[in-house]
Amino acid sequence: PLDIAATVEALTRTVHDFPRRGVTFADLSPLFTDAHGLRLTVEALARAGMRDGLRDVDLVAGIDSRGFLLGAGVAMHLNTGMLPVRKAGKLPPPVLSRSYSLEYGEAALEIPASGLSVAGRRVLVIDDVLATGGTLEAAIGLLSAAGASVVAAAVVLEIADLGGRTKVKDIPLTALTVR
Ligand code: PRP
Ligand code: MG
Repeated sequence: PLDIAATVEALTRTVHDFPRRGVTFADLSPLFTDAHGLRLTVEALARAGMRDGLRDVDLVAGIDSRGFLLGAGVAMHLNTGMLPVRKAGKLPPPVLSRSYSLEYGEAALEIPASGLSVAGRRVLVIDDVLATGGTLEAAIGLLSAAGASVVAAAVVLEIADLGGRTKVKDIPLTALTVR
């Protein structure tokens, strides 16, 4: 636990001007492919979620696409199910949808509107990176609109300058490392 931030930093590749000039991209691929790094990361996210969710989390939601692999690991660690929150157009109708702003244009996140029930569930939302916060805000809004109780959110890396945390101020949010 002590060295989780150092481990994340050591296994993150920072790439300037990707995917656009002026943007700094944090590539967590080296962390994901490192056995020790992956295990530490999943365990730390699970621990944070359980603490912030007051030891009562019964569903993990992972955000398309990099939140999927972490979310599934966290769910197995916590012995819960895992809900993939998908980008628009991937799920068959009916869906519940929530749009959010990107730097240029709009995107949307979706979950199935039938065949599963998230109403009343205590949900931990997982993603890899918090940047502007638009993605996480949309996921939380979507799950809340579906009747879930979003009890906590956890990410691997937060880019503090972009102010994403202010968009999720009502929900406890843990970042394993902050830049
Ligand atoms: C990245 C990252 C987060 C999101 C953070 O995902 O994985 O989900 O951006 O940005 P924000 O806080 O400014 O919303 P991206 O949309 O690039 O897609 P991917 O996970 O499918 O690669
Ligand atoms: Mg993403």
